[in-house]
Amino acid sequence: MQVIKVKDYAEMSEKACEWFVGKLKEMETPVLGLATGSTPEGLYDHLIQKYKDGEISFQDVKTFNLDEYIGLAGDNPNSYRYFMNEKLFNNIDIKQENTFVPNGVATDLEKECTDYEQLIKDAGGIDIQLLGIGSNGHIGFNEPGAKFDGRTHIENLAQATIDANARFFDSMDDVPKQAVTMGIGSIIESKEILLLASGENKADAIAGVIDGELTEALPASILKQHPRVTIIADEAALAKVK
Ligand code: GLP
Repeated sequence: MQVIKVKDYAEMSEKACEWFVGKLKEMETPVLGLATGSTPEGLYDHLIQKYKDGEISFQDVKTFNLDEYIGLAGDNPNSYRYFMNEKLFNNIDIKQENTFVPNGVATDLEKECTDYEQLIKDAGGIDIQLLGIGSNGHIGFNEPGAKFDGRTHIENLAQATIDANARFFDSMDDVPKQAVTMGIGSIIESKEILLLASGENKADAIAGVIDGELTEALPASILKQHPRVTIIADEAALAKVK
């Protein structure tokens, strides 16, 4: 596990972009695993700029997002599909049909999960998986206790996650309680992983990943077992690392 320490969110986003662009340039048909949340927003802004500057193109890129809220359609501003369109896809030259986000309003959600796994397989697997981390150590929406060999599935969100997400919704009742998420088993099959973390509310989770033991109680601790993981984290997120 390679840990790159940066000063703050701005530097994390810049470094992540540099890292990403380097990788993109090495691949002819990259398959990217993407994440939502506040953490990757700065990276996405930089990637858009790199595209506008003519430095990179997404024409031959395929993307698979980690997760989606159950009950939110893609035109709902709180859905992850909407987030991705707004924050990245609509601003680059990616083909919309090459962007995959689980459908949170599929009539058969179980089938949606198995289909999503198949789509990833058909694409040849994920080359680079970008991850944020929940303050409770979740990755995607795999909450503490999620099985390390889990595939794409329906997850009941932890109360801590519901509380953390409440800031985006009008009322607590509107906050989704379930999501479709790639499983930890699916995530860990990616050839390479980049985890970003910023802020003191991530410090316990990051210390657990770097210094703690491998445990399903901290989903992100699985990264200890992956041969190619880079963590770019700021001083606040690394504050509790020994
Ligand atoms: C959500 C997403 C995760 C993300 C996490 C942290 O729960 N499902 O993929 O990593 O939030 O979000 P933020 O980056 O806003 O702190």
